Amino acid sequence: MSKVLWITAVLAFIGGLLFGYATANIAGGLLFLKSEFNLSLFQQGALVSILLLGALLGAMIGGIVADNLGRKRTLLITALLFLLSGLFLFLAGSLLALLMGRFLLGIAVGISSLLIPLYVSEMSPPNHRGAIVALSQLGITVGILLAYLAALLFSQTSNWRALFGMIMPFALVEFCLLFFLPETQAFRKFSREKKQQQPTWKILFTNPYRRILLIGVMISLFQQITGINAIIYYAPQIFRSAGFQSDRSALLATIGIGSINVLATIFSLYLIDRAGRRRLLLIGLAGMVFSLLFMVFTFISSFEITAIISMISLMIYIVSFAISLGPVTWVLISEIFPLNIRGRAMGIATFVNWFSNFVIAFSFLSLIKYLHEGGTFLLFAIIGTLGYIYVYYKVPETKNKSLEEIEMGWKKRGEL
Ligand code: BGC
Repeated sequence: MSKVLWITAVLAFIGGLLFGYATANIAGGLLFLKSEFNLSLFQQGALVSILLLGALLGAMIGGIVADNLGRKRTLLITALLFLLSGLFLFLAGSLLALLMGRFLLGIAVGISSLLIPLYVSEMSPPNHRGAIVALSQLGITVGILLAYLAALLFSQTSNWRALFGMIMPFALVEFCLLFFLPETQAFRKFSREKKQQQPTWKILFTNPYRRILLIGVMISLFQQITGINAIIYYAPQIFRSAGFQSDRSALLATIGIGSINVLATIFSLYLIDRAGRRRLLLIGLAGMVFSLLFMVFTFISSFEITAIISMISLMIYIVSFAISLGPVTWVLISEIFPLNIRGRAMGIATFVNWFSNFVIAFSFLSLIKYLHEGGTFLLFAIIGTLGYIYVYYKVPETKNKSLEEIEMGWKKRGEL
């Protein structure tokens, strides 16, 4: 692998890490802020979800900015935005400042979540592309785990400033790395062609592009509505209601889940360019449905050993997600779109991803209230089954093909 490719791989990882750390550190942050700022339930909810709103905005503008300014320049701006929001949160003196900081951070996360896979995919050779893009997913999982661990580390002093401030060094590394990297060839080609023929938004929604856009959107949607973030964000609560006796044991179990997420994602790096995207998606979705059904069974049967069984099923669920929908979603949406719509189409798919993330995060506690745990996990299992059928019939294999070959593939099949 060339030096530039190694740096690209590190960028993928750091970009993912920022995404994961920034989204998950609020779990611990909230614990510390709650008492210091005397936050009501509504204010806590606002602090959590305002980042998702910022991410929606970021996803909406990220693709357009990348198509106009270029991939590299947009990433540089995003790194600065991460730095700025980290500083804002570090210095915040009021709830309003915290909300503003989290919103800014959300914009950076939203742009980054589509720009990192886009840039990395355009920079990588076909035989390693899956693994290098999936490195950003590894970064996400490590970032989530770091956020849990940092919360534990800073819990003695309730030091939320340090917890939020840690975003800054990571952002600085990303900023510096970008100086060693070039703009992508694909973007250069895109801007040359754009001068001749300005692509319009309308073509995205007319066939044949609409059909390809739909595949990206559906994969993004399935990544979220099969319930991953219900588990990632609410694991301690789930463990408590499944029979774990204390907050501490539930928190430790959550760290266990975070670690398994990291380990299984490492395994996916090995698999993705060998087994291929489709096969991983199908195996992973089957595993997710199976473990969700197991969860349903434990919750309705209320055995003595429920806590252990729930822990095992959650682990199977996480492993299945981490080798499939976790990395493959980001890999696929960076590969399947033809160059002339890539930036904007990824923007739409990523927007749908954040929107459905927001809906699940917001509604999960109400779902539990009305459908109980059993009904909620059954709903996720049904959606997972639909996802399996969708992937089986609609999602193409892209492993070992160059982005140009993938585009040609659509043409050969008469889809373009
Ligand atoms: C998803 C996130 C999720 C994370 C968990 C990512 O691919 O987009 O919503 O929290 O995986 O590992």
